[in-house]
Formats: sequence, structure tokens, C-alpha cells
Amino acid sequence: MAMGYKETYKLSMEHPEEFWAKAAENIVWDKKWDQVLDDSDAPFYHWFKGGMLNTCYNAVDRHVDEGRADQTAIIYDSPVTDTKQSYTFRELQDEVARLAGVLKSQGIEKGDRVLIYMPMIPQVAMGMLACARIGAVHSVVFGGFAAAELATRIDDAKPKIVLSASCGIEISRVIEYKPLLDQAIELAQHKPDNTLIFQRPQAQAVMLDGRDIDWQSACEQAEPTDCVSVAATDPLYILYTSGTTGIPKGVVRDNGGHAVAMLWSMRNVYNVQPGEVYWAASDVGWVVGHSYIVYGPLLNGNTTIIYEGKPVLTPDPGAFWRVIEEYKVEVMFTAPTAFRAIKKEDPKGEYCKKYDLSNFRTLFLAGERCDSPTLAWAEELLNVPVIDHWWQTETAWAIAANCLGIEQLPVKPGSPACAVPGYQIDVLNDDGKVVADGEIGSIMIKLPMPPGCLPTLWNKDEHFIKSYLSTHPGYYLTGDAGYKDEDGYIWVMSRIDDIINVAGHRLSTGAIEEVIAAHPDVAECAVIGAADKLKGELPVGLIVLKSGVERDNADLYKEVIALVREKIGPVCSFKKVVTIVRLPKTRSGKILRGTMKKIADCESYKVPATIDDPVILDEIKMALKEIGFA
Ligand code: COA
Ligand code: AMP
Repeated sequence: MAMGYKETYKLSMEHPEEFWAKAAENIVWDKKWDQVLDDSDAPFYHWFKGGMLNTCYNAVDRHVDEGRADQTAIIYDSPVTDTKQSYTFRELQDEVARLAGVLKSQGIEKGDRVLIYMPMIPQVAMGMLACARIGAVHSVVFGGFAAAELATRIDDAKPKIVLSASCGIEISRVIEYKPLLDQAIELAQHKPDNTLIFQRPQAQAVMLDGRDIDWQSACEQAEPTDCVSVAATDPLYILYTSGTTGIPKGVVRDNGGHAVAMLWSMRNVYNVQPGEVYWAASDVGWVVGHSYIVYGPLLNGNTTIIYEGKPVLTPDPGAFWRVIEEYKVEVMFTAPTAFRAIKKEDPKGEYCKKYDLSNFRTLFLAGERCDSPTLAWAEELLNVPVIDHWWQTETAWAIAANCLGIEQLPVKPGSPACAVPGYQIDVLNDDGKVVADGEIGSIMIKLPMPPGCLPTLWNKDEHFIKSYLSTHPGYYLTGDAGYKDEDGYIWVMSRIDDIINVAGHRLSTGAIEEVIAAHPDVAECAVIGAADKLKGELPVGLIVLKSGVERDNADLYKEVIALVREKIGPVCSFKKVVTIVRLPKTRSGKILRGTMKKIADCESYKVPATIDDPVILDEIKMALKEIGFA
């Protein structure tokens, strides 16, 4: 009889090497590992040391070799361009091998970085896989980031080449990517040798002679290239995520541990078998896209869907149900915000009734806290289990989840259930002591973390230790606060840093503050994440003007909003800003962002004993009211 959750979890804790070695048998290795876990360099841990493999082989070629050549690997569904296309594993292999050939012909070798700035088209996945095929390290940047953010990533990753497309489409707006890329290269200190541009019919990119290469014609002329063997510990990709400052962190992912964890999670967390249709409605620019649009489903021999659209307006709130019916999706993954958007447009779920969802089995939600009303609404509408699970860019896969492939645990709305096998989750107080059940503290993961989790930050080992491993030795700091209940369920309640979550997108308020503070009329500012019914949180800027500055507020707000959009990007959804006389601070000068957030969210708050001027809080309340909060 198969083991239940408790036994599986216990085994993963007591015999982690045996546990993960068994999971690793499902991957095709060119050379088996010498050591399952090398801890000689702790706190840097290396999984499957000595092992050699190729992630692209395991995600694509393997399926051609093992009888899935004619199965659909990727479905591209784009309501915004009215396009539907599919690629079998054999076709995908051909496309990826040619693209890898293009990269090779441009001098890209194992270990070189390739930056990818692309919309949700199949070529983005092909680009990632082509890098994996030749051992190059990709770094995908989400399309909603502005040129300046892209430039920061170019400078950190130092790519030899950038893969991009002429444009992306946001509902009906054509967003030209190429001018943004040109601007980013202009801003960056590091200059990539080349760019490879996929021309889309909606916009024609202007090409720079000698630097920019046309994707389609290069692929037509390219020689297909085979997979190269890389070490399990070699990097597969870098994915930048918001840190507590304006400088993003380059999360590194290795090849071996990642492949093992991805495959294991597809079967054990999502309960998806090879051949089934799995859809993660996210964007490849986020970790969800890396793990569960591209690598996880393809490694598991699933059909994955690249959907270029939104849950609503493309064309209506039945968009998701149409895709589920049309492709017989069995399991879907998205963020709660998508369901809030659908619920807002179609509260009675009328659109859902028009479609046949009989193949649909489970909905997984993650990316932000799943509020109970949204969970209940989705359950009632779809009549399938709705499973919340908690993880982050750094881990690549679920830390806490209801692992349906092992045993379905009872759902407790508001909790992503229990620790996933491989993760020891402890809740610690400020002194580093494990707190009692039910008591709130910092949610931490005992080292070593399981395969797939970040081995380090790109070129910043010390920063990795400082950011994640130094709070309480022996533990990884998730940055989330919450508690564990008497049944071992984890309750993720808030962040302990300045990270906010806007429509499932992780943003740093510190980074937004840095941009606003650069406005010539701003003396100082604070950004808080105020509760929002649709997006979970929205950034709100409170600004103090330099003395003597007299401005028309409406004009000033427009400028500040435009500045954030220009420097960070539309993804911020930064649209709310208000001036105040001064910021509330403690006597030692610490800005009371938490208190301001409570005021904005109409929550009760205590006036901190250390506040320098309590009267200011009433003024802040009035200012926030002015812009629709408090
Ligand atoms: N390229 C360029 N611009 C982009 C972009 C991209 N790839 N993605 C988003 N943007 C822009 C949007 O057009 C929007 O611009 P606007 O302020 O001019 O309207 C802005 O960035 C904010 O985008 P978003 O947060 O997606 O808001 P939205 O109002 O367009 O859509 C939802 C709201 C809820 C429908 C959408 O966020 C969603 O489907 N989210 C759920 C799935 C998901 O992506 N989760 C992420 C991690 S799992
Ligand atoms: P990201 O790295 O962008 O995936 O964001 C990760 C962060 O999003 C986590 O650290 C949490 O703060 C939040 N998050 C993700 N999933 C959940 C969830 N299921 N419940 C609560 N918070 C979540």
C-alpha cells in the first residue's frame, strides 16, 4: 500500500538522501551522482554532486525517445491575437535544437548567460530550453518591468545575448518590447554582443545592423544542436526577484536538484500523471512560469499551455473555462487574484455554466495569501478540490501544500496545509526559539533545504548568507510570518520585510520609495501595501514635499506615478499617491509604515509609545481617505 502523508514526510526527514535518491531515479542521468547531498561546504549545500545530466533532454528529447514524440507538448492559446497552435514533443525538439544551434553559432557556450525578455509565446519556452540544451544559463525578465529594471538585470547577469520579441499584447494594447530593450542596453554598463528578435505581426522591431538578429531567419538556417551534459550542480537559470532594497536578488537554480524536485512535485504535489494536460495560468517571467509552465510539466511528459491572455476581458470572464474545456485541462494552477477578477465580473459564475469542465480535477492556488471567500467561491463554482499552497521564487516549488499525489488532507481555508516532504518548517521567535503551536513568529526552513531550492544568489554568496541564513543559524529565512497549528498546518499571515504582493506579483516598497525619493520636489516618502479587494495589495505612496515647494498636487501625482512606471514598470500598479506634512516616525527616526498600513486598511492600531508626534496619524488618516483608503 502506498505511504500516506505522515509516513512520507517522516521518511523525507529521517532519511533525506535515500528519499531524494529514489526520486532522482525518475530522471535520465548521463552519469549518476557520487553523493546525494554534499554538506561539506555548509551552509552551501549541493545536491547530486558528481551527477551529469541535461535538463532539456529530460524535458523534451527523452519523451521523443520514450514514445511520446507525437503527444502535444505545448499548446499556445492567445485570445489577444486570435491564435491557437500546438507543438508535439518531436516538433518541440526540432524547434529547440535549431534555436540552440542559433545560440551556438553566436558563440554561446556552457555557462554563458542569456537574458530573455519576451511575451507569452511558445518561443519563450523554446528559448529557455535551448539554453538548457547547451548548458547556457537563462535569465527571464518579466515583460511588465521597465527598461531601467531590465538594465539592472543585464548588468548583474552580464548576458552575451538577449532573446526578445518585437512586442507583447496586453488585452488590446500592443506593447513594443524592442524600444524598451534598446533603452535598457543603452542604460546598462554591460553590453550584450547580440540580440535575437522574434518579429510578431502586431509590431515590426527596428533592427540594429551588426547587433540584432532576426529570430525566424536565423532558425531556418541553423544546424540543430544536441544536448550537452552538465553537472547537476551547474546553474540552469537565474531569476531575479524583489529583495528588501531596490537591487533585485538573482536566485540561482541548479540542474540536477531542480529536475528531481520538479518531477517529484508534479506527481506528488499536483498528482498529475504523464500524458495529462496541466495548465499554469501565469507568466514565464515569474517562478510559477519557470516551474509549472515550462519545466515541471515538460519533465513529467505533460501537455502544458502557454496562454497569452487574462482571466477577464480576453474576451470575458469565461476565458479560463473556455481553455479548460477546449484542451481538456485536468489540473490548473493560478493566483487567487485571477479568481477575484473573475468573481468581480461574473459573481454568479454564469460563464462557467456554458462550458463542459468534466475533465477538470483540481485547482491549485498560490502566489499570495488565499482569502477564504475566494477559496469558497472557487470550490462552489467548480466543484473540485481547491488547493492553496505556499512557496516562493527562492524555493521553486511548494514549501507547504496538500500533497494530493500522496494523500489528500482536509482543507482548512486560509492555510496552505502542511510542510511538503523535504521541508522542515519551524516558527521561531526573535530569540531563535521554536514557538508553541498557534503562536505567531518568523516562518523558517531548517537547513538543508530539499533539492530545487536556491543554492545561492548569482555571484553573491555573501549576500545569500546575509539575506537568508544569518537571522538564526541553521535556518533559512522565508520572510513570511505566521504560525503552525496543532495539526501541523501552516498559516502564512504577513511578511516581515518590505515586500508587498500586488496581484500575485512580488514587489519591494523600498524599491518604489527609492524611485519616488529621486523626484526633485520630494523630501522624503513612504510606500505601504494597502489592502485591495482585487489585487490583494496596492502600493500607496505618501510623500513629503521639500520646503518651499508649491505645486499643483494633481500634476505632481501624475509625475510621480509616471516616474515609478518608467523606472520599475507597469507591473507595480502604482496609481495612488498623496502628500502629507511629515511622516510618522519613532523618536529614533524609524518610519511607522506598519501603523500607516493599519490606518489605510481600517484596522485598529495602537499609537506606538515611541512615536515622535501622535497628532500626525490623524492627518495621515485624512490624507489616505482622500485617495480612497482608511
Ligand atoms: N508586459 C507589459 N505590461 C504588462 C505585462 C507584460 N507582460 N503584464 C502586465 N502588464 C501591465 C498591465 O497591462 C497593467 O498595466 P496598466 O496599469 O497600464 O493597466 C499592469 O502591468 C499591471 O498588470 P496586472 O497586475 O496583471 O494587472 P491587470 O489589471 O492587467 O490584471 C489580473 C489583473 C488579476 C487579471 C492579473 O494580474 C492576473 O491574471 N493575475 C493572475 C495570474 C498571475 O499572473 N499571477 C502571477 C504569479 S502566479
Ligand atoms: P514569489 O517569490 O513572487 O513567488 O512570492 C513569494 C511570496 O508570496 C511568499 O514569500 C509569500 O509572501 C507570498 N505567498 C506565495 N504563496 C502564498 C500562499 N499560498 N499563502 C500566503 N502567501 C503566499
